[in-house]
Amino acid sequence: MVYKKAAVIGYPVSHSLSPKIHQFWLRQNNIDGEYGLLEINPERFEETLKGLKAQHYVGVNVTVPFKERAFHAMDHVEEVAKIMGAVNTVVVKPDGMLWGTNTDGFGFIRNLHAEMPGKKIKRATVLGAGGAARAVVYGLLQEGATEVMITNRTKDRAEALHEIFGSKITVVEWDKKEQALEHIDLLVNTTVLGMEKQPSLEIDLKHLPTEAIVVDIVYKPLITPLLREAKRRGNKTVDGLGMLLYQAVRGFELFFGATPTVTSQLRAEILSS
Ligand code: ATR
Repeated sequence: MVYKKAAVIGYPVSHSLSPKIHQFWLRQNNIDGEYGLLEINPERFEETLKGLKAQHYVGVNVTVPFKERAFHAMDHVEEVAKIMGAVNTVVVKPDGMLWGTNTDGFGFIRNLHAEMPGKKIKRATVLGAGGAARAVVYGLLQEGATEVMITNRTKDRAEALHEIFGSKITVVEWDKKEQALEHIDLLVNTTVLGMEKQPSLEIDLKHLPTEAIVVDIVYKPLITPLLREAKRRGNKTVDGLGMLLYQAVRGFELFFGATPTVTSQLRAEILSS
């Protein structure tokens, strides 16, 4: 079998968990290959992408701050990445062409299915309107959600998502986010609030139905104050690690040609790192 080489590109990138995830799967699938870190000076990002073929890479993941720039540097972009305006997975084709996609929305939905099999989401509320929110909204609409309320500190960014995704989106003022909790099936936090070293998320869940699922895409800490409070009042919860692991599944398939599995052993290994 041909030796295959992939990496994650970012700046800084040493914090990225992608190498640990992919290396776990390379071992699990007995694949002769490697997955490393490429910390690239921002001035040299496009040049580095163009040089991947000569360096024998089959593909790269792209992380902060390059996802939007990667989008513009591709020879071909998959539809989902066009909607996202960002590329997080690049395949280097045998002829050197760069093919980009975005697997974040896929990761969110696959994780939700894994955690809550058979659950249909019709009405959802999304806290935040950054890149992660865009992926979550995309995934929810793909899966048949009929109404997604978006609330964000900077209202213009929520309005921008309304523009992109259309009439199923309702924008709710950040100060009135509690009003967007009634009659929903799912609440998702995509903001950085509740993450280590960030301010906490102030939200009163009293109007949230107890049947609603609460997802926090933050995974440091794994159990955020939002998830703890949701659990306490009887809501089912989904933590942020799964989305990270499932978004990597598609990249691994594209780079290494095998479908990896998300196991409790992988979760434990990533959490202990
Ligand atoms: P990502 O691409 O990972 O989603 P991002 O685009 O930086 O990252 O988005 C971060 C989200 O956290 C945004 O919704 C941001 O709100 P703004 O659009 O108003 O910046 C939200 N966020 C960050 N700090 C916040 C704070 N102190 N209070 C409320 N929301 C905050």
